[in-house]
Amino acid sequence: MRGLQAQLLLLLWGAAAASAMPTVPWRVACPPRCLCQIRPWYTPRSSYREAATVDCNDLFITSVPPELPEGTQTLLLQSNNIARLEQGELGYLRNLSELDLSQNSFSDVRDFGLGDVPQLLSLHLEENQLSELPDSSFPGLGNLQELYLNHNRIRSIAPRAFAGLGGLLRLHLNSNLLRTLDSRWFQTLPSLEILMVGGNKVDAIPDMNFRPLSNLRSLVLAGMQLREISDYALEGLRSLESLSFYDNKLADVPKRALQQVPGLKFLDLNKNPLRRVKQSDFTNMLHLKELGLNNMDELVSIDQFALINLPELTKLDVTNNPKLSFIHPKAFRHLPRLETLMLNNNALSALHRQTVESLPNLREIGIHGNPLRCDCVIRWVNGSRPRFIEPQSTLCAEPPELRRRRVRDVPFREMTERCLPLISARSVPPSLDAEVGDDVELHCRALAEPEPEVYWVTPAGVKLLPFGGDGRLKVHSEGTLEIRGIQAGEAGLYTCVAHNLLGADTRGVRVSVNRSFPLGPAELELLVVDVWPHRVLLAWRPGLNAVSSNLTWAGSAPGSRLGSARIPAGTHSFNVTRLRPDTEYRACLRVAPPASPVRVACVTARTKEATRGALPWGQGTLVTALLLCLLLLGVAARAGSRRESPGSRRESSPGAAGAVRVVYPVQPRGHLLTVEVQAAPLEC
Ligand SMILES: *[C@@H]1O[C@H](CO)[C@@H](O)[C@H](O)[C@H]1NC(C)=O
Ligand SMILES: *[C@@H]1O[C@H](CO)[C@@H](O)[C@H](O)[C@H]1NC(C)=O
Ligand SMILES: *[C@@H]1O[C@H](CO)[C@@H](O)[C@H](O)[C@H]1NC(C)=O
Ligand SMILES: *[C@@H]1O[C@H](CO)[C@@H](O)[C@H](O)[C@H]1NC(C)=O
Ligand SMILES: *[C@@H]1O[C@H](CO)[C@@H](O)[C@H](O)[C@H]1NC(C)=O
Repeated sequence: MRGLQAQLLLLLWGAAAASAMPTVPWRVACPPRCLCQIRPWYTPRSSYREAATVDCNDLFITSVPPELPEGTQTLLLQSNNIARLEQGELGYLRNLSELDLSQNSFSDVRDFGLGDVPQLLSLHLEENQLSELPDSSFPGLGNLQELYLNHNRIRSIAPRAFAGLGGLLRLHLNSNLLRTLDSRWFQTLPSLEILMVGGNKVDAIPDMNFRPLSNLRSLVLAGMQLREISDYALEGLRSLESLSFYDNKLADVPKRALQQVPGLKFLDLNKNPLRRVKQSDFTNMLHLKELGLNNMDELVSIDQFALINLPELTKLDVTNNPKLSFIHPKAFRHLPRLETLMLNNNALSALHRQTVESLPNLREIGIHGNPLRCDCVIRWVNGSRPRFIEPQSTLCAEPPELRRRRVRDVPFREMTERCLPLISARSVPPSLDAEVGDDVELHCRALAEPEPEVYWVTPAGVKLLPFGGDGRLKVHSEGTLEIRGIQAGEAGLYTCVAHNLLGADTRGVRVSVNRSFPLGPAELELLVVDVWPHRVLLAWRPGLNAVSSNLTWAGSAPGSRLGSARIPAGTHSFNVTRLRPDTEYRACLRVAPPASPVRVACVTARTKEATRGALPWGQGTLVTALLLCLLLLGVAARAGSRRESPGSRRESSPGAAGAVRVVYPVQPRGHLLTVEVQAAPLEC
């Protein structure tokens, strides 16, 4: 990103910040408190000159000092309180080429009586309080090359405000209060090369808006509210090389609009809510050198053939995207010159070997700050190329035995040829709230070797394969389920399944519609978290704001007592205490969600044998045991623990109606328990 910005800046600022030639005194009658010096100066076209400079910056003066030296070329009046310039007041400065009145108090451009100053090349009026620009706002400045009007309060600009500025090369209108951009402003600016209009709350750009600007090289549309760029918005920008859409509201790459600017070299799309980079979003951009896709909070995946035929692309920055968990193995095609691929600080579990191999000229790769899975898909890292940027912090996150090892240090033999699909947790949110009629997209991405297939199962148990669906519900090949105009009856648990010949991974998304979510049979899950001789810890997933929940339990042995407890709202686990050792118990949780039938989930568990020494009361006196029981009772009475149920992965047919058998590896050591979840109310 820094590289791209540096390039943009370079293009914008030319060589302006180059050498620091020493200033020398200019021996003239200098106004009090001002400095008169010969200083280095660069023209707007970046050629070097020496300029007789009068520097009256930061003096809190309210008018321009009288009797300035006649030979003044640069007059600096920044950070004063000047609100008015009398008509022709500076007319005697025949050689004036730069005037800096930034950070002053001009509120009306008509108070700006510059008169006829045809030699002026550069005018700074940024950070004043100008609010409108009427027609012909800047008369008598026929040779002006740069005009800075940024950081004012400009709300309106008349169609011919810039009339007479036919030689203007650079115009800064950024950070004002404009709501629209008008093509007519640009008709009088045929020479313009650099236009900055970011930081205005403009949400759309009409077709042909920039058409008069056939010499424009750099266009900065950063920090606006752009949601969509229409197909012909950039039409006519024949010379455009650099374009920034930084920090806007674009949810899709404006690919048709980009096709209108074939000369583009630098494109900045950072900080936009793009969700996916889709097939052929960037295609045939024959001069593109650098592309930035950073800081996108919504970006989930870069799909197959997303970047195609970019023969000049040398650097691709895709960093700091917290949900980016998938880059398709065939995302890139014909990027023969790509040398640097920055993918750090995303949510990637791997980068497929095919991705790396499709980039013949790749020299370096930044992939640190990702939850990398070092078992299989990342096998390409064994060679010396590409070089890792920050190899010290390129660490494995999975599998557990390799955690925190440096990826480069993992012996190749610890990686396998084949591995199970793993759905990236950050691509699938656990839940989503929609409203009736919304178009909903659920993304599911998995990497594995061999490449997995992805399908979805609806709450009604319907399996949706890629390219299948009824038109309204559609699964795209890369794993996104699209529901057009969701209906109230379509709320529920949607499950994504990614499988290859080795196995499957699944993940569910709870989709509520208008805040309602049917608590389906498979939704209430009661888990045994731990067992002791006298106590069993149960947990369940948070359901939909249950009106009330009761837990009942009973032992199978004759004489064992029935127990019950009301569960406070918001509680998702419970210690069932005072149980007998080595006894089978059955516990049922009854939950009454609002406006739907009572749900019941039951579970059986066997308490442990009371081995001597294993537990405190096993070897203690009766008194100790009694005390502990009292203590435990206290815990049970206050049962308000906020502990969440442990994560579990399902290996069954999700979404199927009726009873479902689910196996949960809930115990840390893989102790398996069978849980039956039933749809009908049940006697415990
Ligand atoms: C203005 O610039 C010209 C050309 O550089 C120079 O000959 C002339 O003396 C300057 N005028 C004054 C008043 O310094
Ligand atoms: C690197 O991978 C290749 C196969 O792609 C394998 O033949 C080679 O032995 C590996 N090198 C090391 C150092 O593990
Ligand atoms: C769902 O919510 C939206 C917006 O709050 C509302 O306009 C619509 O009428 C609701 N639909 C139903 C079926 O309740
Ligand atoms: C259950 O009891 C154990 C032992 O007293 C305690 O550590 C744990 O926090 C309790 N859990 C809940 C949810 O009450
Ligand atoms: C829980 O028990 C209370 C009191 O016995 C009862 O009013 C409530 O309906 C029960 N809730 C469920 C979900 O069974």
